[in-house]
Amino acid sequence: MNVFGVDIGGSGIKGAPVDLERGELAQERYKVLTPHPSRPEVVVAGVEEVVRHFGWSGPVGVTFPGVVVGGVTRTAANMDQGWVGLDAQRLLADALDTPVTVRNDADAAGIAEMAFGSGKGHDGTVILLTFGTGIGSAVFVGGRLLPNTELGHLELGGHEAEKQASSKAKEDHQLSWEHWAERVAEYLAHLEMLFSPELFVIGGGVSRKSDKFLPLIEAHRRSRLKQHGRAPIVPAALKNNAGIVGAAMGASAANVF
Ligand code: BGC
Repeated sequence: MNVFGVDIGGSGIKGAPVDLERGELAQERYKVLTPHPSRPEVVVAGVEEVVRHFGWSGPVGVTFPGVVVGGVTRTAANMDQGWVGLDAQRLLADALDTPVTVRNDADAAGIAEMAFGSGKGHDGTVILLTFGTGIGSAVFVGGRLLPNTELGHLELGGHEAEKQASSKAKEDHQLSWEHWAERVAEYLAHLEMLFSPELFVIGGGVSRKSDKFLPLIEAHRRSRLKQHGRAPIVPAALKNNAGIVGAAMGASAANVF
């Protein structure tokens, strides 16, 4: 069965029909740039453009880069503040004239990775982190999600982690891979101290370039982590499509999460 998934990010709105049996995009994804300012009505128009591109009719799952409870977007750290307190699910359903489910972007990516990707078969605590415009998090225990964890807003050395170590922070501060990896290693050490996970999964746009930074992160960890267990760090198997796949899974009645 195919369901449509759309991933709203700080830089792009991406979508495609998703094959839910295989956990893969059924067609090549289509992307439009996220408008700035990212006011709800213009972003909704972007989502419509992506869905209409495929001539899709049927349920649509959408991710949003903020806290989402019952379809209401409660925070919008990297989006226009007009999203705060908005019934985004209803707005999108009205615009697309179809049932819509809205979830946090990292939660959606995590659900896809747990079902089809790097988290599959892991029953202990798994933490998926997405590195993009912000840092998103999804925490699982026994395969079940604790939604809206927002670990990207933890403070590191007095600053929000996502301002220090997201992909955008790497660009904004012109950090080398080495310097960025050092910050990510410090962030992971902090999470490891708090949660003792059995696995970290790294998603978001950077997951495509894991060969550039995973060895560097490992080197930093070896030098600094003495007292804590060291959870393996693996890239998201579905890479940056995990959000689209997880969005579609959320819109399928069989996959209510
Ligand atoms: C938001 C999260 C989101 C993450 C990744 C953060 O700024 O608060 O909700 O998951 O960015 O997009």
